[in-house]
Amino acid sequence: MERWVPLFPVSASAHADAVDHLYFFLILVSGFFTALIFVSILAFSIRYRRSRHPVPRAAPKSIGLELFWTAIPFMITLVMFVWGLKVYMDGETPPHGAQDIYVVGKQWMWKVQHPEGRREMNELHVPVNTPIKLTLTSQDVIHSFYLPVFRMKQDAIPGQYRTLWFQANRTGSYHLFCAEYCGTNHSKMIGQVVVMDEHDYDAWLSGVDNARPVESGAKLFVEYDCVSCHGTGQRVRCPTLGGLFGTYVKLQDGSSVVFDEQYIRESILYPEAKIVAGFPLAMSTFKGQLNEEQIIDLIAYIKSLSPASTSAEKRQ
Ligand code: CUA
Repeated sequence: MERWVPLFPVSASAHADAVDHLYFFLILVSGFFTALIFVSILAFSIRYRRSRHPVPRAAPKSIGLELFWTAIPFMITLVMFVWGLKVYMDGETPPHGAQDIYVVGKQWMWKVQHPEGRREMNELHVPVNTPIKLTLTSQDVIHSFYLPVFRMKQDAIPGQYRTLWFQANRTGSYHLFCAEYCGTNHSKMIGQVVVMDEHDYDAWLSGVDNARPVESGAKLFVEYDCVSCHGTGQRVRCPTLGGLFGTYVKLQDGSSVVFDEQYIRESILYPEAKIVAGFPLAMSTFKGQLNEEQIIDLIAYIKSLSPASTSAEKRQ
């Protein structure tokens, strides 16, 4: 598309093509009806101008005609709805096994954390032909992570995790924007997404030897003394955490909640919010002690725990 429509962004994923096709369909339909209406107005105002005809009598009502021009636009808008819904749902549903990458927005930069340990700033390196799932949050105000080449945008909201996924199908480096006005230097909150082939990506990943989030999380788990309550053999005051990720946990008030990123984050910062059934509130808040990246590290660690080995001790 980008070759013959000036200024149109390059497409670098199958989803971007799907969005473009829908977009051009909408333009086409709108263009057709705009032209139809304007040409009709012109033609009728010439054909039936007053000097040629006396004021005509109103035409008799035609149910058939009314049905015709109601039903056809209705069908067309239904097509738009179903087609749009499909494209939207595809964009909202990351495939199983997508590669996780965490992104934290702050005034005015994007901080990216790869599970293999590499961190980067205002750049996002990804392998080609691999589904990538970004989990986004913000440590101050609302930002919006925008990747035009993939036709993908998601808000980064303080206190929440939002996801965005894409699968690049061509290598190269492309724009990355903040698409939500977030203060003085919003316009400078830009960067690039670099799509590399598998081999280059592996080389790039191993370029710097940072600790993996799972490892940093395991350290924090001990450092902040989570382990003295949540470790193995400490089942009295606090629930152990192994194997819980993605399951439902029962709460004191009888309701249940999915044990996911959002729930872990909330429980670290606001332990009193949702207390697991059968346990007293024995935990105090870690608000102000941990930053968003440390919380992400802890989540990565808790996610990695299997039901049997809840132990940070074993990893030491
Ligand atoms: Cu961040 Cu605009």
